[in-house]
Amino acid sequence: MAPTSSTPLKIISFSILLLITINNIANGQQNQSTLVFFLQDVGKGVGATVQPVIGINGKVWSYNSFGTIFVVDDPIMLNPNPGSTQIGRAQGMITVTSLDGSNVSIVLSLVFNNGQYSGSTLEIQGASRQRENSRELSVVSGTGRFRYARGFVVFETVSYDDSTNHSVLRLTVTLAIPS
Ligand SMILES: *[C@@H]1O[C@H](CO)[C@@H](O)[C@H](O)[C@H]1NC(C)=O
Ligand SMILES: *[C@@H]1O[C@H](CO)[C@@H](O)[C@H](O)[C@H]1NC(C)=O
Ligand SMILES: *[C@@H]1O[C@H](CO)[C@@H](O)[C@H](O)[C@H]1NC(C)=O
Repeated sequence: MAPTSSTPLKIISFSILLLITINNIANGQQNQSTLVFFLQDVGKGVGATVQPVIGINGKVWSYNSFGTIFVVDDPIMLNPNPGSTQIGRAQGMITVTSLDGSNVSIVLSLVFNNGQYSGSTLEIQGASRQRENSRELSVVSGTGRFRYARGFVVFETVSYDDSTNHSVLRLTVTLAIPS
């Protein structure tokens, strides 16, 4: 999901693990909650979690090629370590929707199946400037604990291994708490 011809960031120091945190921030009129998750996104090999499924006839199906559709099922983890506790799956579709290949359209459900959000989902949708390291998308709704959720999520690539096309993505979800 994080293609990226751009240089991936080095792993940031995780001496302080970014476990799921909920902070209530009084933001003028609106209280907010912030949650942090990590996705393990593998583009190549037997364990691939993101795959192109269709594209324009006669063109290479890739993140740079308009019309290519990928299906994704990435594990959601509590911290960036691939061996850390899995709390759900990020399942959905990524479509290259700008003619120049710079933007993708993402429709993604965070499906929680372990831990405090087990059984709930968050729905993410929007245009992602995939070549930038920090990408903001909308949170349009949710189910279970996240019914009526709204807010935004920032995707950041925290590491990238190009031998396996394995990215670790940090998702920082900010939700409005209704007053
Ligand atoms: C792996 O990444 C390279 C460079 O970004 C890209 O050209 C290639 O299509 C990717 N392979 C897969 C299977 O996603
Ligand atoms: C990509 O999307 C951003 C909004 O996220 C927009 O500002 C930009 O113009 C788009 N680029 C192209 C080439 O469509
Ligand atoms: C934000 O939360 C605090 C503490 O729960 C509450 O006192 C305050 O009224 C809330 N503000 C809004 C705008 O909902």
